[in-house]
Amino acid sequence: MSESSLENLYHEGRAFPPPDAFAAQANVSDDGVYEQAAKDPEAWWAQQAEHLRWTTPWEQVLEWNPPHAKWFVGGQLNIADNCLDRHLEAGRGDRVAYYWEGEPADERRTITYAELHEEVCRFANVLKARGVGKGDRVAIYLPMIPELPVAMLACARIGAIHSVVFAGFSSQALADRIDDADARLVITADGANRRGNTIGLKEAVDAGIERAESDRVSTVIVVNRTGTDVDMVDGRDVWWHDVMDGASADCPAEPMDAEDVLYILYTSGTTGKPKGIVHTTGGYLTQTTATHRLTFDLKPETDVYWCAADIGWVTGHSYIVYAPLANGATSVMYEGTPDFPDKDRFWDIVDRYDVSILYTAPTAIRAFMKWGTEYPERHDLTSLRVLGTVGEPINPEAWMWYHRHIGGESAPIVDTWWQTETGGHMITPLPGITHARPGSAMTAFPGIDARVVDIEGKEVGNGEGGYLVIAKPWPSMLRTIWGDDQRYRDTYWSRFGPDTYFAGDGAKLDEDGNIWLLGRVDDVMNISGHRLSTTEVESALVDHPSVAEAAVVGRADDLTGQAISAFVTLRGTHEPSEDLEAELKAHVAEVIGKIARPAEIYFTPDLPKTRSGKIMRRLLKQISEGSDLGDATTLANPDIVNALQQAARGR
Ligand code: WTA
Repeated sequence: MSESSLENLYHEGRAFPPPDAFAAQANVSDDGVYEQAAKDPEAWWAQQAEHLRWTTPWEQVLEWNPPHAKWFVGGQLNIADNCLDRHLEAGRGDRVAYYWEGEPADERRTITYAELHEEVCRFANVLKARGVGKGDRVAIYLPMIPELPVAMLACARIGAIHSVVFAGFSSQALADRIDDADARLVITADGANRRGNTIGLKEAVDAGIERAESDRVSTVIVVNRTGTDVDMVDGRDVWWHDVMDGASADCPAEPMDAEDVLYILYTSGTTGKPKGIVHTTGGYLTQTTATHRLTFDLKPETDVYWCAADIGWVTGHSYIVYAPLANGATSVMYEGTPDFPDKDRFWDIVDRYDVSILYTAPTAIRAFMKWGTEYPERHDLTSLRVLGTVGEPINPEAWMWYHRHIGGESAPIVDTWWQTETGGHMITPLPGITHARPGSAMTAFPGIDARVVDIEGKEVGNGEGGYLVIAKPWPSMLRTIWGDDQRYRDTYWSRFGPDTYFAGDGAKLDEDGNIWLLGRVDDVMNISGHRLSTTEVESALVDHPSVAEAAVVGRADDLTGQAISAFVTLRGTHEPSEDLEAELKAHVAEVIGKIARPAEIYFTPDLPKTRSGKIMRRLLKQISEGSDLGDATTLANPDIVNALQQAARGR
């Protein structure tokens, strides 16, 4: 969002308190909760952890040796047991865990907790039979089908560590992740549905294993989703339905230490190599369940909750799989896109299942706005009572549209700020208390100490801006970067000292101390709420034989928040052409995945550089956004800037 549109609103100061009837029934309606949690955060989190089933109680809530935290030290629990068995024992086995909606409009499944439990136990036995045990890494590359949560929970049940790779990523990205985590087993599907077409997934897995440096993948389990032709490698590849056939449904949950690793999830940092974010068991489940219950005002007996993210991202891990299941919620899980077969698909789903809580992203809301109100107006959306957003700052206009056209001007909106690294919500309204301001994520969740500091680490005053930091450890924080603890220290805990977490986001406090997020302050781009580093995309471009040098920036985009602009110099005899532009875009999509495809490529004989040879990315961003450049005369090669500006105007 542009700083100026934020500025306007922020001076206007519209605030939306919860309707009285909502506040009266809310899980939290007393703002004393903030003070109580701030006074003794450990006691507050311990209280939240009591909602879970522990097989061994913890001895100590927090052990903090900056920058390493252990939460619920000595405690044991199993996450699959919390998500499944516990509900069965309490007589909730017949409750629907997922209403699964396939992309083809007539394909649906209703999965109860008892059914999910059985599938998970059977698949856990399949994994065991393949030699997977506690601490082993399993790569999962699946579309949004029920087998995905089943596979994750089966890993959790036996203590295996899953590494879910978003199925839109390329075979190279998969290969890098298989190598980094040293995964021995891969779970995939023959293909995925995408807007009426199928995309080969097994094919990408074969290529990924081929490209991987290690040759240790001994098993590939393949779900038959689309009936796509695949090559099954003898002795390595097996069909999901074959191995499940006859697998026993009896599989006791392995007691896990609170600090045992639950999963690794890769995310882009400022260098080309993605970071394997490590999440553990007890603290992660404590914070994700607490935030899910309180941020969304969840009533598991009556709500139908829908998080419309993909499980390949952290939002899906925490808020489609782990928190909703541990809280005994009934969720919708949807395989497809918002515009297939038509642009009212989301509203058709809300109407069909009487969805009461909807959690989506600003980029989706902006697309809905563009498509127009006729699509939501085709359906009855009155079941909706809480709306959430995540992924990037929400433009006030988009907030207002969501409020009016989806929330019927009554459903509170919770704008949740958090990251792959934080595991769960960190800054968010509480829907029964907060007087929400469109565009602000408002205040830290109870028990979280979020601050805005200047470059020296001093807290800024109300009305001022700076860097967002978290000043105390929190239960669902990342514990390290897989295989690279030094990078963990350097990235998050060195800028402002070893006990202050540097989030990488800029933020501003308004006159009342509410937090307004301003986007990344590093070289991480945010495309439709997905993180990509400029270096990652530059490396993919330079990997092409025609490219000598590349610089990439995220420029403002009305729909996707940011879009990728690439500036490329060519080698030797290669000439700029539309064909080459298309080829380079396709090349990036192949190396990383479609989300990384540049929106435009500028060919240039040279890149604007400082006299010391540093590429001026800020200038490139201004060029691609058509904004005023200010003084560019200190550059080593100012004429290049004029040429690029002209090219940008021509677009
Ligand atoms: C951005 C997604 C403003 C932010 C859960 C953060 C947001 C990055 C918001 C993390 C929000 C996420 N308001 N910005 N409500 N939510 N972000 O790891 O820049 O994919 O650092 O986690 O997204 O992205 P990630």
